[in-house]
Amino acid sequence: MATDPSHKLSTIAVTAGRPERTPDAPLNTPITMAATYVAGGDVEYGRYGNPTWTALEDALGALEGGRCLTFASGLAAVATVLDLVAADGLVIVPRHSYTGTIMQLADLESRGRLRVQLVDITDTEAVVASCADAALVWLESPTNPALEIADIATITAAAHEAGAYVVVDNTFATPLLQRPLEDGVDIVVHSATKYLAGHSDVTMGAIVVTDDELWAVLKGRRDLVGAIPGAFEAWLTLRGLRTLHLRVERAQANAQELVRRLGDHPAVDTVAYPGFGAIVSIVVAQGAMAADLLCRTTQLWVHATSLGGVESTLERRRRWKAEAPTIPDALVRLSVGIEDVDDLWDDLRTALDGCVG
Ligand SMILES: Cc1ncc(COP(=O)(O)O)c(C=O)c1O
Repeated sequence: MATDPSHKLSTIAVTAGRPERTPDAPLNTPITMAATYVAGGDVEYGRYGNPTWTALEDALGALEGGRCLTFASGLAAVATVLDLVAADGLVIVPRHSYTGTIMQLADLESRGRLRVQLVDITDTEAVVASCADAALVWLESPTNPALEIADIATITAAAHEAGAYVVVDNTFATPLLQRPLEDGVDIVVHSATKYLAGHSDVTMGAIVVTDDELWAVLKGRRDLVGAIPGAFEAWLTLRGLRTLHLRVERAQANAQELVRRLGDHPAVDTVAYPGFGAIVSIVVAQGAMAADLLCRTTQLWVHATSLGGVESTLERRRRWKAEAPTIPDALVRLSVGIEDVDDLWDDLRTALDGCVG
């Protein structure tokens, strides 16, 4: 059913991607398990389309303000976008982008497919200067896990002057807190695994664009490569989207309260928080071993990678070899969930107390 564009995003999250309201129609789009379809239609084969994906794509497209394609994972979406870069093209990317994105770029560069320039995304002047030779400017804002913010509108204008694509990985902000297509960005990418699905039970990715031709090119790549989502995963993500606004609102309120409390704790050297969203990065004053101890001793917070679920998780990012060496060794990324904030603080404070010794 078509969404009413005059509706607020929270209403769209609830209403988009529903079946037509005919008597006895289900309220929710069913899960269509189909590897092939009766000949003569628009889809024909399971790799080319699925009604459950379409429902989710309608909903996420409406939230971001564009046309959506869903993928098997966030990194499948990232790979599909990077494939747009012509041979030997230059990609500008924040040095603190998600490690998987950086690893994909490093792999492509090592095989002579494209060139990569890592930048400090907070240095707008330097990034604008780098845009002159770019084929594609990748933005992740906030970055993972440094939580740096890019000046999206200024960088986009400079990149477009150079004829480059601009991409924003909007995983951390979600369309509720940031809608990059409104700033003229060409492509939004998501790890739907995180906030969009929201329950740590789905791996999925998405791309949203405004240009129909670009959408068709990307759809062609998905058809060809086959990095398609499962129908059940699409259904779960659509179900997750229905409460996105409530989850983001609650998790963000919890994060803001925890940021206020964390600053005063003697085990916390620095707190990084961009002012919105529900990811907080802290540097443990007593070093990496104390940071590991913190992750091992919380009872309510789960020691796990990933983020954006209803449950609060934490991890020391440098435990991953691929993490940038400029990320402090003792940085712990907190993904704040929707539990009671006092329970979250009591657990975190007790574990932090243990780091002071
Ligand atoms: C910002 C960001 N983008 C992309 C990805 C990759 O997504 P996926 O794990 O769904 O492949 C991640 C995963 O952590 C991420 O944090």
